[in-house]
Amino acid sequence: MNKVLTVQDFIFKNVDINIPEKGSFTWKTPSNIALVKYWGKREPQIPKNPSISFTLDACFTITTLEFSKRNSGEKNINFDIYFEGEKKDDFKPKIAKFFTLIQQYVPFITDYDFVIHSRNSFPHSSGIASSASGMAALALCIMSLEKQLNPTITDKFFNKKASFLARLGSGSASRSIEGELVVWGKHNDIKDSSDLYGAKFPSTIHTNFKNYHDTILLVDKGEKQVSSTLGHNLMHNHPFAEKRFEQAHQNLSKLAIILQKGDLRGFINIVESEALTLHAMMLTSNPYFILMKPNTLSIINKIWEFRAQTNSNVCFTLDAGANVHVLFPEKEKKSVNQFIVNELLSFCQNNHYICDRVGVGAKQI
Ligand code: DP6
Repeated sequence: MNKVLTVQDFIFKNVDINIPEKGSFTWKTPSNIALVKYWGKREPQIPKNPSISFTLDACFTITTLEFSKRNSGEKNINFDIYFEGEKKDDFKPKIAKFFTLIQQYVPFITDYDFVIHSRNSFPHSSGIASSASGMAALALCIMSLEKQLNPTITDKFFNKKASFLARLGSGSASRSIEGELVVWGKHNDIKDSSDLYGAKFPSTIHTNFKNYHDTILLVDKGEKQVSSTLGHNLMHNHPFAEKRFEQAHQNLSKLAIILQKGDLRGFINIVESEALTLHAMMLTSNPYFILMKPNTLSIINKIWEFRAQTNSNVCFTLDAGANVHVLFPEKEKKSVNQFIVNELLSFCQNNHYICDRVGVGAKQI
């Protein structure tokens, strides 16, 4: 199936076979780091511009969804959530909202009672967003249940619908199903791209970008200063919004060529500019925010110095926070790792950092 799907395609088709009474599914789902950033959306979770991300490997969520069919015939959404072994009622509203949003596409969820067990490979208070990997894992578990109810669905449809559902929980979660590079949002140059779900980057990626490294420097492990909902809303009535959305389209066009050609310098230019533009949008919105910390800037300056001195292809990107993602090619791992340990770790909280790299996507376990 290589056509672009519409909302109608995702409405559950009941084939009335194989109704499971109880069981469980477990998925391990990676986080991702955007190269062209998603910042700004409209209802229902439609991005204002297309984005592309590297799927990660070491930062992941493992979620188990236990399900048991309700005998009462009563239809409602009912679940308990445990995070790292502890019952977490404060996580419930976000997940309840997600279930309510996806109910029209997976109506069978109201026939079951669920228990969700989830854990992350990265510390909860690390400033690393877990909504992408977390929502994607839950969406995949629900798709495994749909597959039992309707075994005729193809693997391609399974992934697309998992991404479609995950998107409704968190936009960036739509990019956490597959690897290694995923585009979310309609872009004229990218075949099969859609606002509704993430799609694997369709062209062959140059070997320079295979096994790319992402070392995450934890500059500030505190709670997010700006929630994603608040952040995306800052783009409504933002004086530079339209230009920014246009720029993201252009940057994705350029990056698509860069990724195929293996142009490392071109990559650095787009990726760093995207990170700084994301923060520039926050600096110039109203209310306005400075999410970088002094150590974020120190790290950026050190990276620029190192690049000037050694001709390395190391670069950085940022999320909506102070942590720095240090990106570099596989063939420079020795020298850049040494540079990180010698010169950058002192800017991290408790010297804390995570060595990650590009991964292949979610896995059922
Ligand atoms: C800065 O996906 O967290 O990381 O859709 O409201 O859940 P919601 O937002 P979210 O936003 C991610 C923003 C970003 C850039 C990106 O990942 O593209």
